Amino acid sequence: VELEQIPTDVKIAVIGGSGLYHLDNLEVNIPLALLSTFSLVLTFFNPQVLGEVNPLTPWGHPSDRIIISLHTPSSTKVAFLARHGRGHYLNPSEVPARANIAALKSLGVTTILAFSAVGSLREEIPPRDFILPSQIIDRTKGIRPSTFFENGVTAHVPFADPFDKSLADLIVANAGVLEGAKLHTDKTLVCMEGPAFSTRAESHLYRQWGADIINMSVLPESKLAREAEIAYQMVCMSTDYDCWKEHEEAVTVEAVIANLGANGDNAKRLVEAVIPALAKALEEGSLKSVEALKGSNRFAVITSKE
Ligand code: ADE
Repeated sequence: VELEQIPTDVKIAVIGGSGLYHLDNLEVNIPLALLSTFSLVLTFFNPQVLGEVNPLTPWGHPSDRIIISLHTPSSTKVAFLARHGRGHYLNPSEVPARANIAALKSLGVTTILAFSAVGSLREEIPPRDFILPSQIIDRTKGIRPSTFFENGVTAHVPFADPFDKSLADLIVANAGVLEGAKLHTDKTLVCMEGPAFSTRAESHLYRQWGADIINMSVLPESKLAREAEIAYQMVCMSTDYDCWKEHEEAVTVEAVIANLGANGDNAKRLVEAVIPALAKALEEGSLKSVEALKGSNRFAVITSKE
């Protein structure tokens, strides 16, 4: 159902999905909703799916229609967006990240939980573990539009710490719900262009650089969220050991999908636990970084006002 009026009071967004990796466990797919993690979350909280919106931004439409749901008892509205489209038709380089972030911003979103499948570059992060990265190494090729500030307005936003520590802390505080999977924190995520996976030489190189996990989706999404003054934390789910590991089969889509399926229940549990806690923190104004981000980019604009 298309909402007649686009709401502007949706504070929390969940970005899910991955073209190759079938994060369909995080899709809200009505009426197939019961198949998906996010909608199971909705069912658990007896939330009301209010409808869908498809805002037109100056950068076009988002990847797919955004689903708005109302969570009880806190009356919190949550937006869900499938990064690669619900049919997984957008490869990582094709995701309209500016439209996605601008669309969420137009709904009033101040906080994004972004889920992503990742390859593991470390022995101690087996497939099916969860990871909260704190750093990013950019190995995209510069072909993804990655700023809102252009065409006469230049701004340089701080990005030294690309993720949101207070959101990460809130996820850690609720990680007890994960079953049979460890939550690793403070890891470094390499973002590659894709869509083909890395060569072995690249995989070894990233390990030497100190990277712990690899995906194709954190950029420019996280950068644009920072420009839009939205608190952003990616929740990574390990699906494979990429191709650096001897005697281990190199990553295939098949393996990734198999492990993602298994990650679904844990992702569901995590979202279930985090949304009410996050809603409460936002209501109390106790999420420090969300408060600090408000208006922060005033000082990032370097273009003369005259
Ligand atoms: N997403 C899931 N596994 C991946 C890998 N090995 N490389 C890049 N992106 C991934």
